Amino acid sequence: PSPARTDAASATRALPDAQTVTDVTHWTDRLFSFKVTRPASLRFRSGEFVMIGLLKDDGKPLLRAYSIASPAWDDELEFYSIKVQDGPLTSRLQHIQPGEQIILRPKPVGTLVHDALLPGKRLWFFSTGTGIAPFASLIREPQTYSDYDEVILTHTCRDVAELEYGRRLVEQVKSDEMLAELTEGGTSKLRYYPTTTREESPKMGRITDLIDNGTLFDDLGLPHGLSPETDRAMVCGSIGLNTDLKAIFERHGLREGANSAPAEFVVEKAFVG
Ligand code: A2P
Repeated sequence: PSPARTDAASATRALPDAQTVTDVTHWTDRLFSFKVTRPASLRFRSGEFVMIGLLKDDGKPLLRAYSIASPAWDDELEFYSIKVQDGPLTSRLQHIQPGEQIILRPKPVGTLVHDALLPGKRLWFFSTGTGIAPFASLIREPQTYSDYDEVILTHTCRDVAELEYGRRLVEQVKSDEMLAELTEGGTSKLRYYPTTTREESPKMGRITDLIDNGTLFDDLGLPHGLSPETDRAMVCGSIGLNTDLKAIFERHGLREGANSAPAEFVVEKAFVG
């Protein structure tokens, strides 16, 4: 190898917590997903996030929090990201190719985990934009189906194209025989409720409005409202969504939970920029 390649190879080996990219899919000009190898020692709970990133020109790591979109049993790690043209990390991360490396700090954390909720009957996953990522993990997690009678994933985006990653994933989850076996047929409990706010689609509106005016419940054939006896919720999206949904839940008598004190709902901010 040329001296330059030798340098690059040793720099790569020296990268702490390096993982190799195995797959990249571009969904829109603003969204992409990718898979990386999983460190043998990494244990996490479906729904948690880790810090990932790249080395800056000055040799220091530039890291951001990313939900792991793959389930805890998978042997690769999947992430779902926006592309921000002038974003410090995603302006570069969007160009990664299979075979290249990223940094992954193997310290998973997060509140969107089953342990942070008390037992219930119906589990709601409310997401906007890339906030679907932790639920991409949780809808492939067997515990989701063993713990609940009904599982409902809502995903709201501005445009139809931004729903595609989630739509395809739900389709896969529902037709995957291995997952059906792993969850004892539980994936048939999963219901998917996609909405758009700026482009025409079969179901339009912010999820907050669709809860408040009862449309969500009518569409799903459920009694209006959320009940602290039966309903459990996880939320991942913009700060605005998180704040507004939290207020709605609290009006319905649900309390916010945490790992240390499980309750009826949990909230986490989606990765931004
Ligand atoms: P809207 O188009 O009405 O702003 P973004 O791309 O800005 O992250 O938004 C993703 C989706 O989340 C959009 O469909 C957006 O609707 C919706 N959204 C943003 N803020 C809220 C909020 N406070 N409550 C409910 N939905 C929201």
